[in-house]
Amino acid sequence: MRASTIATTFFLLHLLLLYPTATVPAPAISTKKTLQAQPPSSSTTSSTLDPEQLRALQFLHIPTTHDPCTTTTCDTATTTFRHLLSLRLTNCSSDLHLSTTALSSLSTLTSITFLNCHTPVVHFPTSLSNNLRYFTSVNSLQRLTGVFLSRLHNLTELYISGDPIKASGIHIITSNMKSLTKITLSNTHLTGYLPKDWNPNLTHIDFSQNKLKGSIPTSLTRLENLKVLNFSSNNLNGILPDSFGNLVSLKNLSLSSNSLSGPIPGSISAIPGLVYMDLGSNQFNGAIPEFISEMKELKYLNLENNHFHGILPFNASFIKRLDVFKINGNDDLCYNHSTISEDVKLGIAACDKHGMPVLPPPATNEPPSSVDDAGSGGGDDDGEGGGGDDNVEKKNQVHVDRGPSKVVLGVAIGLSAAVFLIIFLVLLFKC
Ligand SMILES: *[C@@H]1O[C@H](CO)[C@@H](O)[C@H](O)[C@H]1NC(C)=O
Ligand SMILES: *[C@@H]1O[C@H](CO)[C@@H](O)[C@H](O)[C@H]1NC(C)=O
Ligand SMILES: *[C@@H]1O[C@H](CO)[C@@H](O)[C@H](O)[C@H]1NC(C)=O
Ligand SMILES: *[C@@H]1O[C@H](CO)[C@@H](O)[C@H](O)[C@H]1NC(C)=O
Ligand SMILES: *[C@@H]1O[C@H](CO)[C@@H](O)[C@H](O)[C@H]1NC(C)=O
Ligand SMILES: *[C@@H]1O[C@H](CO)[C@@H](O)[C@H](O)[C@H]1NC(C)=O
Ligand SMILES: *[C@@H]1O[C@H](CO)[C@@H](O)[C@H](O)[C@H]1NC(C)=O
Repeated sequence: MRASTIATTFFLLHLLLLYPTATVPAPAISTKKTLQAQPPSSSTTSSTLDPEQLRALQFLHIPTTHDPCTTTTCDTATTTFRHLLSLRLTNCSSDLHLSTTALSSLSTLTSITFLNCHTPVVHFPTSLSNNLRYFTSVNSLQRLTGVFLSRLHNLTELYISGDPIKASGIHIITSNMKSLTKITLSNTHLTGYLPKDWNPNLTHIDFSQNKLKGSIPTSLTRLENLKVLNFSSNNLNGILPDSFGNLVSLKNLSLSSNSLSGPIPGSISAIPGLVYMDLGSNQFNGAIPEFISEMKELKYLNLENNHFHGILPFNASFIKRLDVFKINGNDDLCYNHSTISEDVKLGIAACDKHGMPVLPPPATNEPPSSVDDAGSGGGDDDGEGGGGDDNVEKKNQVHVDRGPSKVVLGVAIGLSAAVFLIIFLVLLFKC
């Protein structure tokens, strides 16, 4: 009766080798196309899934014409029948209904995954909630709540992306999960503050693309096993804790697109294996610390769109070593053109002899000669050059693609200098 929908529900292999397969016991029956329980017949070699679980799979539109234990992980039967350990539902049909009865039958599962499986979440039986170690929902379960998730208290990995979660804060979800090592709650509409209590065994935290507010708590920096931290695209503010460098295992750090401020803490120099650091689009300020260029593993560095100032403390060989380096959008920052050639397009101005940005900033797509123009300009020279030759100004304006406010300022200074000169000449003539 629901044959048309069966085709759109997929039941996939998900290997979780919890038990050595060599210990699979011999007594077993073949399921083939017979789905009702049968008295064990001795002749076949394949093991057999619990008939109650087979019925539950059928109810979930999962094809059962082949023994599911050949394509997914089952336990090693200690009695007559085997039981499922992992289940993956992908591209479900719209009329899939997760019934509590079916889920009760499947309470031996330790891992459950929903991918593009749009269906309302239902109450999980206690036995299933207790057994689950891995829970994943990507663009799938609707009406997820913090209370529902908090009952999955034996989880080691929780991964939710693209599914709104109704909860007043993350601590509601995680405070009972004593074995949690990896948590991703990305693009889940979460609000509130970051938790203050963290499981010391956490290695991955990804709360990107939510609406979390407040500052990063110092307690987070006690997670010495943490490898990945991603708070990008939230509304976090405040400064980074001085103890940030206590995160000695950190490899990937993204705090981009928040409202974080203050300097980069010096303690970050103590993180030996940092590969990926994205602090872009915040309000970080102060000087860029020189120790960053001594971080041996660093491959990705994004400091763009902040308020850093002073002279960029990097040389060309460090910048070339990186796969990605972004620094534009820091209006008070400049580079020393004796240490970095103008060919390296950074999107910030060169420094004058006082270590201040030269105005206007060099165009990123011009030949080096035009950068020389900008580089030679002290305050007075700029004014006369601008007033004397409108074409030069226009040319610069067309090619400069960052820091438009500075170009406007340059033009204004140039024009006023020209007017001043004309008035001066007129007065001189009259005399
Ligand atoms: C699910 O659908 C997507 C896109 O429609 C497709 O690329 C993918 O292969 C499907 N997955 C399975 C397991 O059929
Ligand atoms: C899950 O948690 C319950 C209650 O906290 C505990 O009794 C049980 O042993 C745990 N189950 C597993 C599989 O760890
Ligand atoms: C952290 O992991 C260790 C070793 O895996 C384990 O002994 C300890 O109980 C865990 N701590 C918590 C709070 O889960
Ligand atoms: C760190 O991020 C990069 C780029 O997104 C990714 O390729 C890499 O696997 C991540 N490393 C870890 C430990 O997750
Ligand atoms: C952080 O999350 C964003 C958005 O989910 C993702 O694009 C980015 O690659 C992640 N960064 C790291 C370092 O994992
Ligand atoms: C560039 O900077 C790095 C790190 O500070 C340093 O080890 C290296 O010697 C410098 N290279 C040159 C050519 O100055
Ligand atoms: C730029 O670098 C050169 C060579 O290292 C140095 O002599 C000069 O003082 C630097 N300029 C500024 C403004 O720091």
